[in-house]
Amino acid sequence: MTPEVLEPTSIERAPIRIGSVEIRNRVLAAPICGASKVPYRTLARRFGADLVYTEMVKAYPLVRGNDRRTLELLRTDPAEFPCVPQICGADEDVMADAARRLEQLGAPLIDINMGCPVPKVVKEGAGAALLREPARVERVVRACASAVGIPVTVKTRSGWDGREFTGIDAARAAEQGGARLITIHARTREQRHGGAPDLASIAAVRAAVGIPVVGNGGVVSAESALAMLRQTGCDAVMVGRGAFGRPWVFREIARAIRGEPPPERPSIDEVAEIVRWHLARTHETEPFRGHGLSRRYVAWYFREAPYGTFFRDRAFRTKDRGEMEALVDEFFAHLRLAALVPRGEAPPVPAFVAERLARGDVPREVPDEE
Ligand SMILES: Cc1cc2nc3c(=O)[nH]c(=O)nc-3n(C[C@H](O)[C@H](O)[C@H](O)COP(=O)(O)O)c2cc1C
Repeated sequence: MTPEVLEPTSIERAPIRIGSVEIRNRVLAAPICGASKVPYRTLARRFGADLVYTEMVKAYPLVRGNDRRTLELLRTDPAEFPCVPQICGADEDVMADAARRLEQLGAPLIDINMGCPVPKVVKEGAGAALLREPARVERVVRACASAVGIPVTVKTRSGWDGREFTGIDAARAAEQGGARLITIHARTREQRHGGAPDLASIAAVRAAVGIPVVGNGGVVSAESALAMLRQTGCDAVMVGRGAFGRPWVFREIARAIRGEPPPERPSIDEVAEIVRWHLARTHETEPFRGHGLSRRYVAWYFREAPYGTFFRDRAFRTKDRGEMEALVDEFFAHLRLAALVPRGEAPPVPAFVAERLARGDVPREVPDEE
C-alpha cells in the first residue's frame, strides 16, 4: 500500500537563521530533565531535529565555577551540534554571567527557561514564576543578550494559570529584551505537563511578536505537528515526550512538513540497533548512573509492543548492564516472532508472561517520565 502523503502546511517558510544555526526541518527536540542527554540528543539530530537542548541548568552554580554536576549537564558531543544550553534563574546579573560562561564554553545559542513549574524553582522567582513578572523577563533577557555575542532565546508557557496572566506578555517582554526566538509550551504552569495543550495560546503569541515562534505541547506524530503548524501559524514545532523511544518521529515530521511521503518505519533490526546504541552510549557518557538511566530509556522502546508492559516491568527491575542487554535481545526475538504472526491473529505469549498471567501478576503501567 502506498503511504498517504499528508497535505503540506499551507504556510511555506524559508529556513530560519539564528546566529550560526539554521532551522530548516522546522522540528526541534525539547529539553527534558533526566532524558535529553547526549545519546538522546544525538539520535534526535540523526533523525532530523534542527536543534537539541541540554537539560535546564541553574545559573548560580554555573557562575560559582566548577560545579561538577552542572558542567556534566552541559557536556556536549560534536555529533549533536548544534546543542543549545538552557539556563534558569531570576537575577539578571547572575544570568548575564552565566550567559558569558556558556558563550566561553562554545554554545551556539543560549536558551532561558521561563516555564519550569517545579515549586523549588518557582519559589526562587525563576522558571514559570517569570510569567508573572514581564518586566523582569525583559530585564533578564536584555542582560543576557547584552552580555554575549550569540543569540538568546526563551522557552516559556501559555500562562500561569489560564486566568490571570498570559504568556503573551512574557513573550512580548522577551522580544523587547532582545530574544531572537521564543518557544511556547501550550500548557499553563497550573497544568504542569498534563492536560490538553491550548493551541490558541501559540497562535496568540505568534500574532503578538515578530520573532520566530516555536510551538510545543502534545506533538507526537506528523499529523499532530502539521495540525499545530496549521492552527497556530508557528514557525516550527518542538517535540518532547513524543520522541521517547521513537527518535524517528523527527524524520516523519520533517518529511510531512516538506510534503513528502512518510518514511518507512524502521525495521525491527534497525530499532534493535538504535536501542543497543542508546544503551551503550548511555553507559559511556554516564559511567556512574548509566544503568539507572538506561532502565528508563530502554523501557521507552518496549512501550508499544505486544506484552510491552511486561518487558518494561522487567527492564525497571534489571540489576546491571549484562542483564539489560540480555533482556533487549529477548525482547527483539519476541518482536521478530510476533511479526511472523498473520495480521488479526494473537501475538505469541512469551513464557515469562504466561507464567505471570497464570499467577494473576499483571504489572502496573509506569509512565515514561517516572
Ligand atoms: C520530566 C520532564 C522534564 C522536563 N524538563 C525540562 C527542562 O529542563 N527545560 C524545559 O524547558 N522544559 C522541560 N520540560 C518541558 C518539555 O520541554 C516540554 O515543554 C513538555 O514536555 C511539553 O512537550 P510534550 O507535550 O511534547 O512532552 C520537561 C518536561 C518533562 C515531562
